[in-house]
Amino acid sequence: MKLQTAGEKIIIPRHVAIIMDGNGRWAKARGLPRAMGHKRGADTVRSTVENALEMGIRYLTLFGFSSENWKRSPGEVFDLMSLLRLYLSEEVKELNERGIRFRVIGDREKLEPDIVALIERSEHLTSMNKLLTLTVALSYGGRRAIVMAARDIAQRACKGLIKTEEINENLFEATLETSEIPDPDLVIRTSGEKRISNFLLWESAYSEFVFTDTLWPDFSKDDLVGAIEEYANRERRFGAA
Ligand code: IPE
Ligand code: IPE
Ligand code: MG
Repeated sequence: MKLQTAGEKIIIPRHVAIIMDGNGRWAKARGLPRAMGHKRGADTVRSTVENALEMGIRYLTLFGFSSENWKRSPGEVFDLMSLLRLYLSEEVKELNERGIRFRVIGDREKLEPDIVALIERSEHLTSMNKLLTLTVALSYGGRRAIVMAARDIAQRACKGLIKTEEINENLFEATLETSEIPDPDLVIRTSGEKRISNFLLWESAYSEFVFTDTLWPDFSKDDLVGAIEEYANRERRFGAA
């Protein structure tokens, strides 16, 4: 780990977002049911949050369940929701003690009411925390997020609350559910897949992408450090020459 070496200090990205992929393949490789992969994936969530906090990352966003993941078998959806319940009821107290703010983005209407209640309780409990903002994307789709913001703006325009000339990127950004979070500097995807799968579409316009073959249950601190090192060696131009 080179991050702490004197004279070679690496700039830690302010916001790291992760597409946590490969739980199923991790389980399959071991002849285990997919649920075991998800269970181990939840352990990796715990360790990654810990590592991010330790490294001084200020915003960590994790893609936990996409709007398309509802298409999986009812059994797998049930297993994932059960793990989510467990995480929300057992982990949040510790997140709070560590100064972590917990937030959820995505379509809550599709989630079971008891899960929504746990989410609201967790967000409320941790709302004043400042060390690290942990955002979990659940029943989340980037296209839907954009459409919902567009709908909100259209409603305000219809009511005469805003003029159409006032609709610009700043207003749009402020309407997205991620408005309080800076855009991700670094997006990591595990498991070797090289696609965005409807994650933070608007927000990742100028993010650096790092793809690693590591399957999510195996994603370690060294993998996180490696991705940050790769990020640090890139030159971000934002369109300038
Ligand atoms: C990521 O692992 C977890 C979720 C998408 C919920 P997968 O379940 O997608 O694992 P693979 O891609 O089948 O290996
Ligand atoms: C993306 O992984 C969603 C999450 C990590 C929660 P998927 O496994 O669902 O994505 P695809 O199907 O490979 O694009
Ligand atoms: Mg997958």
